[in-house]
Amino acid sequence: MPNIFDRRVVHLYWFSGSGNTLIAALALAERLRERGLTVELRAIEKRDPCEIDPDAVFGILFPTHCFSIPEIVRQFAERLPQVNRVPAFMLNTVGGTSCGGVRGILKRILSDKGFLCVGAKELLMPDSFFSFTLGWSAESCVLGAKRRAHIFADKLIAGQTRWRRIPVFSDVWGTLTKWVYSWVRYSSVRYRYPKPVAKSKRCTRCGICAKYCPVGALSMASLEPTNPEWDENDRKNVRRKMQTLALPPESNSLCVVCLRCVAVCPQNAMLFRMAARPPYRPEPQKELQQKYNEN
Ligand SMILES: Cc1cc2nc3c(=O)[nH]c(=O)nc-3n(C[C@H](O)[C@H](O)[C@H](O)COP(=O)(O)O)c2cc1C
Ligand code: SF4
Ligand code: SF4
Repeated sequence: MPNIFDRRVVHLYWFSGSGNTLIAALALAERLRERGLTVELRAIEKRDPCEIDPDAVFGILFPTHCFSIPEIVRQFAERLPQVNRVPAFMLNTVGGTSCGGVRGILKRILSDKGFLCVGAKELLMPDSFFSFTLGWSAESCVLGAKRRAHIFADKLIAGQTRWRRIPVFSDVWGTLTKWVYSWVRYSSVRYRYPKPVAKSKRCTRCGICAKYCPVGALSMASLEPTNPEWDENDRKNVRRKMQTLALPPESNSLCVVCLRCVAVCPQNAMLFRMAARPPYRPEPQKELQQKYNEN
């Protein structure tokens, strides 16, 4: 088989909630660049799948949600165009395990589109859902994950990776886990549990959570003075008054329970009821926001 990196350009499509997968994507990109490749990180929620570059190696990275692929990632993959043997690899991060429920489903989707699936890696990181770490401290778990992302990059370049699927198991598991994930989303809307909720007393109505939400599920509309006759000073005054009155943001039915709002909130006001306190984030809020801005 020809070396896939003859192409020299790699596009890493990533989705991340609390930041684990973004950190893994950055580590992978760092190593691939050290080995002389041109790497571009592309946020899945900001990209049109129809506009992928067929001359670049296609990498896709995402967290595991309910033993499966996050819905936003699945929809992205399902909308990819038909291609002619574009090399593809995947990396999913887990807090525990996906029970093999990720790579089989994605391989089927990508193979049907004509991608050549060359490598898959599952990376253990701290769990964002329950906010715990298996075995080590969160810091050493993240460090270990970066190291293993480097090793995966080396193996990809050396052509030593595989992407296998177990035929029947993959399909049955894919359907089951899709139901579980739909139930989690339904119950977060219907019963507000599990769901990230802003604590009214701590929330300063800064709007940062709404800015970073990947699906626009948080609305800060009540903070925006809309009267066209106001000048900028009027707007500032009204905004200040509204900020003392307005309710904290609340997620709507678009919420995919990714927990990015929890991770970036500077006041620890956005809380997820299933998780421990303080909420999990791999890096302090400011650093995390910067990484989301730059990539
Ligand atoms: C809604 C939801 C469901 C999750 N389901 C699983 C799971 O089934 N198995 C697992 O190992 N981790 C699960 N996790 C944990 C994340 O996959 C893991 O912490 C991941 O590294 C988070 O990556 P991120 O920070 O990029 O979002 C879940 C997290 C969320 C928010
Ligand atoms: S980021 Fe936190 S403090 Fe700011 S509006 Fe959202 S919940 Fe409130
Ligand atoms: S509101 Fe939902 S989709 Fe938006 S960042 Fe928070 S958890 Fe993610």
